[in-house]
Amino acid sequence: MDNKTLTNATGSPVADDNNSITVGERGALTFDNHYVFEKLAHFNRERIPERVVHARGTGSYGTFTTTKSLKDKTIAHFLQEVGQKTEVFARFSTVGGGQDSSDYARDPRGFALKFYTNEGIYDMVGNNTPVFFLRDGINFPDFIHSQKKNPRTNMPDPAAMYEFWANHPQSLHQITILMSDRGIPASYQNMHGFSSHTFSFWNDKGERVWFKWHFKTNQGIKNLTNIEAEKACPFGAQQSLINAIDKGDFPSWTAKVQMMSEAEAKTYHINPFDLTKIWPHSDFPLIEVGQLELNRNVENYFAETEQACFSPGNLVPGIGTSPDKMLQTRLLAYPDAHRYRVGANANQLPVNAAKCPVNHYQRDGKMAGMCPVGGDQIQTKDVNFYPNSQINDGAPAPTPTVAEPAMPVEENAWINRFDTVTAEDYYQQAGDLFRLMNESQKSQLTTTIAQGLSQATAEVQQKMLEQFNKADSDYASRIKTIMKNL
Ligand code: HEM
Repeated sequence: MDNKTLTNATGSPVADDNNSITVGERGALTFDNHYVFEKLAHFNRERIPERVVHARGTGSYGTFTTTKSLKDKTIAHFLQEVGQKTEVFARFSTVGGGQDSSDYARDPRGFALKFYTNEGIYDMVGNNTPVFFLRDGINFPDFIHSQKKNPRTNMPDPAAMYEFWANHPQSLHQITILMSDRGIPASYQNMHGFSSHTFSFWNDKGERVWFKWHFKTNQGIKNLTNIEAEKACPFGAQQSLINAIDKGDFPSWTAKVQMMSEAEAKTYHINPFDLTKIWPHSDFPLIEVGQLELNRNVENYFAETEQACFSPGNLVPGIGTSPDKMLQTRLLAYPDAHRYRVGANANQLPVNAAKCPVNHYQRDGKMAGMCPVGGDQIQTKDVNFYPNSQINDGAPAPTPTVAEPAMPVEENAWINRFDTVTAEDYYQQAGDLFRLMNESQKSQLTTTIAQGLSQATAEVQQKMLEQFNKADSDYASRIKTIMKNL
């Protein structure tokens, strides 16, 4: 193969990429080293801010195949016909560590999917756990600060983690999952994915149901113990996914949903919009709707995986939000993070851009390419406002038929800050999970908790033990005994 000509960033051939121009053999650089200056200046700009959470991740492409039509529940285009195929980009991640941390932290795993549907991008930005530590986004920055490094020492700080949890008993269910034998997945292929939040489907009659996503791994669940994780290669999960796809051993997940009618939601004994609670499968069975397969690695990690921008607000007609207040906070947080981290035109980058026409009146900004991307450049080229006189000649206009049905306010509501800490049961589902575990799982769970909690203050230990005791007295007494013997 002929060698390609090395060029500068604007395509001019480069004569020498080893020697700067100097005044004689031993002299200083001259100012006409524009090529050297370009090279160094670009190097200085190779980094963008890493994600403030989920910084370390791995991405790949794949296909979602619909196996059950959900036509009666949703107008979402990609869920209409059995056999429909939709291209997907997935990114898996750890949460707390920076880009150069280990793949094997005891930490939830992000499970983010981008569906390139015929009616725009749909993102499912979930985790490998069905619940979360919190149910009000106002707590999120404090929570993440407590899980990241100590501001003075720049070291992990288990005492801070437990201090936060001691003051937020709603975290107990997720703590029980995180500290359990499922806390360190052996690979991204060996874990489930969940929307965790409740979302809504609506159909062409304007009827709404609430639903949650479950992506069940077809590879089976596999986890590492603390000792195995300490010894594992920090890139192990990334390597395992890339190698599997390169070898043609494509990982897959069975996509299922749980659905709840609006009428059921009104009277169900659990608040269906509380992110710290699951919907028991016995009341709301899992319904299989599709298969997800990952089958293509990225060509360029930075361009695709690092610049991928997922948002719970990237929704398509037929899928809407719910009154979950954590979800609403996220609707603001993600696009805001993208504008800061990648830029105002992040959605024009190939990994983020819709594969269907994009027609709108947003214009310009840093790094704007041809705008609107994928749209019909001709019809909208000389009009940048709405409404306009070209509406009948093909300029973009809204489609009222995709309007979401109105969301009722169910109660005689007052606008206020509602703190239900004392009124709610945080302990039942955490206790149920503990009671489901076998002896070895209970022992692993309580040992991991005891090792972390022993580093907290006596007051924090006491508060946490009270919470474990409310979940199950055996849960608390095991932790207490192990801490005494450490
Ligand atoms: C109010 C609570 C939350 C806030 C404010 C929040 C905020 C953020 C932010 C700012 C990012 C970085 C986005 C970027 O730079 O592209 C992020 C990433 C992420 N978050 Fe959240 N988050 C919250 C809760 C959750 C929950 C409950 C889940 C899962 C159910 C979740 C899953 C993820 C995932 C998977 C990513 C990584 C997406 C990717 O791969 O690019 N987050 N979050």
